[in-house]
Amino acid sequence: MSRRTPKLLSYQDCGKAEKELPGKVVWVTGASSGIGEELAYQLAKIGALLALSARRQDELERVKKRCLEISSLSDKDILVLRLDLTERSSHEAATKAVLQHFGRIDVLVNNGGRSQRSLFVDTSVDVYSAIMELNYLGTISLTKHVLNHMIERKKGKIVTVSSVMGIMGAPLATGYCASKHALQGFFNSLRPELGEYPGIVITNICPGPVQSKIIDNVFTEELSKSLEKPGDQSHKMPTDRCVRLILVSIVNDLKEAWISDNPYLAVCYLWQYAPTWAWWLLGKMGKKRIQNFKSGVILASFGLVWETRSKISEE
Ligand SMILES: NC(=O)c1ccc[n+]([C@@H]2O[C@H](COP(=O)([O-])OP(=O)(O)OC[C@H]3O[C@@H](n4cnc5c(N)ncnc54)[C@H](OP(=O)(O)O)[C@@H]3O)[C@@H](O)[C@H]2O)c1
Repeated sequence: MSRRTPKLLSYQDCGKAEKELPGKVVWVTGASSGIGEELAYQLAKIGALLALSARRQDELERVKKRCLEISSLSDKDILVLRLDLTERSSHEAATKAVLQHFGRIDVLVNNGGRSQRSLFVDTSVDVYSAIMELNYLGTISLTKHVLNHMIERKKGKIVTVSSVMGIMGAPLATGYCASKHALQGFFNSLRPELGEYPGIVITNICPGPVQSKIIDNVFTEELSKSLEKPGDQSHKMPTDRCVRLILVSIVNDLKEAWISDNPYLAVCYLWQYAPTWAWWLLGKMGKKRIQNFKSGVILASFGLVWETRSKISEE
């Protein structure tokens, strides 16, 4: 399928998620807030069995409680499993714990991660190391353990929440972009390595700006520093819309899904097909973004909010 083909929109209302996902065991990382939390709710409503992971156990318990309230799942259908993606030595035991509880893992959603707001010149290299440790190495470490199980079963889905910043560049997010590009390169290379296992599907999800806690949790110039003014989120794609489209992408075995409002989506297309224009445009938009950042305004859309409805494409 070509990346040009806007097929995801045509898949979205066919109800395939409701047919395919009930009873499936889905392990979601980063399930304590934002996209992962909403994934838990939508999956619970559909009837998927859930393993919910993140560092904050109390937040995971809150998400589990809500899942039980809004679905017909019972207590044993949702496993809360504290997991720090950066503690790689714990990933084997965590995978065993999910397998012990459910007997299998049908879908792993690699969603946990953190973004960045800082200029490279001001940022400690320790921050770059931490971003790669979490977003990239943490993700591939967990994937390795779960993949061994999927190879034994000859089936399973590995879904990774990358970003449009895994496709294009963005000022103030050099390390984040690098980590998401690394994930894209990794999973696009892993997929052909799994050619003898056609039942194992690798899906990369590339959202644009989505409402979540991501800005509250960004890496900044130093590991110990957080962002003073997280900023307004209202112009971003609603979390439930993004998550619905992630589920549609999963059940249709899409290799890559761009889930974004404009101008990000347009810039993605430019980046793919006319990079010279994209670099020129990003130079203009980036200047505004850096000006906003320096004056204390944190906008995810480069200061430009286009009044367009969501448009999506996939490969
Ligand atoms: N929101 C967006 O605009 C956007 C756009 C493109 C891609 N994404 C991607 O979407 C994913 C989810 O982000 P979000 O927007 O939902 O942000 P969020 O609300 O901040 O959620 C991030 C999740 O990651 C978890 N996490 C952070 N550090 C972790 C660690 N060391 N180990 C395990 N889990 C960790 C957090 O849980 P704990 O703090 O409890 O560990 C939280 O559940 C990320 O990979 C992000 O890069 C987001």
